Amino acid sequence: MVHSYLPVPPSCVDPRLKCRCAVRHTSFQNAMLAPPPIISVSNLSKTYGSGFKALKGINLDIKRGEIFALLGPNGAGKTTLISIICGIANLSEGRVTVGGHDINSDYRAARSLIGLVPQELHTDSFETVWATVSFSRGLFGKPKNPAHIEKVLKDLSLWDKKDSKIITLSGGMKRRVMIAKALSHEPQILFLDEPTAGVDVELRKGMWDVVRGLQASGVTIILTTHYIQEAEEMADRIGVINKGEIILVEDKAGLMQKLGKKHLKLYLQGKVDALPASLAAYNLELSDDGRAIIYDYDTKGERTGITSLLGDLRNAGIHISDLDTTQSSLEDIFVSLVRAP
Ligand SMILES: Nc1ncnc2c1ncn2[C@@H]1O[C@H](COP(=O)(O)OP(=O)(O)OP(=O)(O)O)[C@@H](O)[C@H]1O
Ligand SMILES: [Mg+2]
Repeated sequence: MVHSYLPVPPSCVDPRLKCRCAVRHTSFQNAMLAPPPIISVSNLSKTYGSGFKALKGINLDIKRGEIFALLGPNGAGKTTLISIICGIANLSEGRVTVGGHDINSDYRAARSLIGLVPQELHTDSFETVWATVSFSRGLFGKPKNPAHIEKVLKDLSLWDKKDSKIITLSGGMKRRVMIAKALSHEPQILFLDEPTAGVDVELRKGMWDVVRGLQASGVTIILTTHYIQEAEEMADRIGVINKGEIILVEDKAGLMQKLGKKHLKLYLQGKVDALPASLAAYNLELSDDGRAIIYDYDTKGERTGITSLLGDLRNAGIHISDLDTTQSSLEDIFVSLVRAP
């Protein structure tokens, strides 16, 4: 049945949907209700002048308001992807929209929504912090707003440095100035390309708080990092890019569930040919030629099931000589994903 979404009929069964028919709404229709992504990247490829293909058919949607962490080894294409979305590098094939604006045909509108903290900092300036950050706002054609600049500098603990020349600041302070610059024009989207590289632990935690605060104020954040813990701590979703291809995009909660898996290996006193049916519920696996049993369990679950498993094994006449456990971490998952074939 074809749905007519407008105008709103008084008899509509679902107030969220402006449809005329009295049928149950399908997942297709629910998909129609999902808010449009704030960034949409389709079939994006990038070939540099040297002939090197840095991005190969990237498809990626960023949801409004999320923190998205893009992980990948050196040279994977993270900075290239960010640079294209931000209009610093040209795409070779494909399409990117930001807030519905095409980054090529509607460059200004797209760019005005974005703040970028680049990986490479160019901060050996003799200007003061205040002047630098205020100037950045002017570059986007925004009227002066000293109250906003003051708030940004205070949020980033830079207020007492506002009259200092950039060249006199420490590396971590310079990085925060770059964030202040990126926020000066009140962007809806903030790109942070390795925001905490070389930043001390305490400052890193401070930056995470700033990023969370920005998210709470409605800003969408895309960050790259080589600190897996940072992605674990911060991100709503995680994407992994390798050799110019996106190889995984997943909710962090989903990844954490995988991460929470532990493998218990039970070494048997003898050898078994098959597992008794009474143990079927544990989804056990025989290994080491019948001399060991593997049991996967979820560390985040309320019960691991180990106690009852040991009891049931004993009841089945299977005796254990030794055991060990291993746990897969996000780092393991990441390394196995990006390992060269
Ligand atoms: N201007 C350029 N000309 C040619 N090749 C380039 C250029 N910029 C980047 N590349 C290549 O494109 C690939 C992706 O680089 P990119 O900087 O996007 O990687 P990255 O994922 O950001 O890596 P890192 O983690 O080291 O920052 C690399 O092989 C790099 O050598
Ligand atoms: Mg990079």
